[in-house]
Amino acid sequence: MSADEMKKAAAAAALEEVRPGMRLGLGTGSTATWFVRLLAERVAAGLDVVGVPTSKATEVLARELGIRLITLDDVAGLDLTVDGADEFDPNLDLIKGGGAALLREKIVAADSRRMIVITDESKRVETLGAFPLPIEVVTFGATATIRAIADAARSVGLSGALGFRRSAEGDKLVTDQGNWLVDASFRQISDPKALASALSRIPGVVEHGLFIGLASSVIVAGRTGIQRIDRSPT
Ligand code: 5RP
Repeated sequence: MSADEMKKAAAAAALEEVRPGMRLGLGTGSTATWFVRLLAERVAAGLDVVGVPTSKATEVLARELGIRLITLDDVAGLDLTVDGADEFDPNLDLIKGGGAALLREKIVAADSRRMIVITDESKRVETLGAFPLPIEVVTFGATATIRAIADAARSVGLSGALGFRRSAEGDKLVTDQGNWLVDASFRQISDPKALASALSRIPGVVEHGLFIGLASSVIVAGRTGIQRIDRSPT
């Protein structure tokens, strides 16, 4: 299987969890795009569901493909969110935001009863952090916020390069919410919870890409097939 076929296979496995009448969170990225495409085929065949997109890109795609869209303000919570990830660890903690949509993705996941993460094998890690951690920051005072991020990281024993995400044209990338992204190369985040709470205390940080305790299951597609890992009950 190619990487793209693995992403499609993971998306197809998640689709089996979708039931008529569900309110769905629709993720962002190449794997989540497969889920939206496969879901749209089912919708065209008569499946009645509604979706909340986690980015403008997913919104455009879902609308084009005929999936009925709502907002989080229209309903009291979602049944299921299906989204990709940049990394997942054995606790099912994640790094997300490679597709610049982490803020909406986290709001949608947090308002969902379940979050299924769909990935290929390349996203599995023992320790989060090889993928640079995306941190969404307010544009006002962004340089001061970067200094505060470095201090917060140091307080939990981490250091590494911090740089603004750039667009193809070389400008600072502006997120769907009008903020900038800082990518933090911490390499090995041994205590993601401690880092998450240190980052959350910085006024200029809107959100960060550590998704802790949000994923209910991860569906991983590998060359030998599909594996589903469920969060153990607490
Ligand atoms: C977007 C994300 C994506 O889910 C993540 O980047 C994975 O993307 P892909 O499925 O293309 O590898 O967090 O903000």
